[in-house]
Amino acid sequence: MAGEGDLAHLPADVRPVALLEAEARITHIRAERWIQHAAAKRLLGYLQEAVDQPARERMENVLLLGESGMGKTMLIRKLERQNAACFDDTAGVQRRPVVVMLMPPQPTESEFFNRVLEAIEAPSAGFWSHGGQLRASATRLLRELGTRVLVIDEINSVLAGTPRQQRLFLQLLRFLSNDLRLAFVGVGVPEARHALLSDAQLHSRFSDIELPPWAPGEDLRDFITRLVWSLPLRRPSPVDSAKLRARLAERSGGVTLGICKAVERAAILAIRTGQERIEAASFDDPEIWRGVAAPGRGARPRPRGLTQAQPA
Ligand SMILES: Nc1ncnc2c1ncn2[C@@H]1O[C@H](COP(=O)(O)OP(=O)(O)O)[C@@H](O)[C@H]1O
Ligand SMILES: [Mg+2]
Repeated sequence: MAGEGDLAHLPADVRPVALLEAEARITHIRAERWIQHAAAKRLLGYLQEAVDQPARERMENVLLLGESGMGKTMLIRKLERQNAACFDDTAGVQRRPVVVMLMPPQPTESEFFNRVLEAIEAPSAGFWSHGGQLRASATRLLRELGTRVLVIDEINSVLAGTPRQQRLFLQLLRFLSNDLRLAFVGVGVPEARHALLSDAQLHSRFSDIELPPWAPGEDLRDFITRLVWSLPLRRPSPVDSAKLRARLAERSGGVTLGICKAVERAAILAIRTGQERIEAASFDDPEIWRGVAAPGRGARPRPRGLTQAQPA
């Protein structure tokens, strides 16, 4: 019978889990968990600066960019937990410094404010039906909550609107920023950058940060190490190898979701077979890579201008 003493390769909080029976450990592996890898920690630092900036005329906004599956939504949910809503006893009100909303598929004012109300769990839609009332209710609530940052996930949906809708939407953001002195964190795929281009004033107030596709290197090493630490396997996994890192980056197209899936499946297999560790050979099994986009597929072309110049 294994005891915690044999589990020195695991962080203290994972050791008790590693002592559970197989099915309970597999459930643990499948559950969502946050891994604070080096790249994520760096970006969280930048996002926290946006939350902590003093209210002023000209707020600094952030555009968080990354391909689908890179971990953008998980990152902003972490930012939200890190700045959790709390009750301000002296003022007798609820405070919510960070509000995370999802951009509606159509960038109209009423859809937008409906989503804001949804994000702060206010009774929404129908009730405040028309545009002006929606705007008034949403801004009043954001002011009362003392919101410092409004995070807009999937901001690339703006691009689905007509040029006129897009212009009006950007005007709306400018109005909100001036009225409430809050900052925005726009979150989306790299093309989302184009969504802001038509408003020069607003565009100049956004700085870009990115979760780039994984390439072999120290950041990936840190991520894989922490990912494997989070798995309740009873033996140490020899995964600190440049060759394995290169293979995981290549085969997953550099997408976090694909790397997580493959490593988690390898861990589940290691429990089922009794091997209790992941090693390079674990990734030879094609089953591990089921549904993970092969390189070249699924990856969207980079915007022109960022591609390397063709030799003359
Ligand atoms: N920091 C992280 N910790 C743990 N899992 C992560 C992390 N980042 C990404 N993932 C994995 O990648 C998946 C996709 O993340 P998500 O935030 O939905 O990506 P995006 O919003 O960029 O499309 C998650 O479901 C999770 O499996
Ligand atoms: Mg997302």
